[in-house]
Amino acid sequence: MYVCLCKGITDNQIKDAINQGACSMRDLRAELDVATQCGKCARDCKSILLENMTSS
Ligand code: FES
Repeated sequence: MYVCLCKGITDNQIKDAINQGACSMRDLRAELDVATQCGKCARDCKSILLENMTSS
């Protein structure tokens, strides 16, 4: 499912980045370019981040 439409980033890509060590929005931005355009996906990205960090 697409989370960031501007950059065409899916939740799976975000989860992969988290599994590979991304632990902040800054990391996700640097790795995937999410939330760098309209910013509407920032909240969703953040909740995916929090969910996947606490479950590991
Ligand atoms: Fe992610 Fe626009 S949807 S920056």
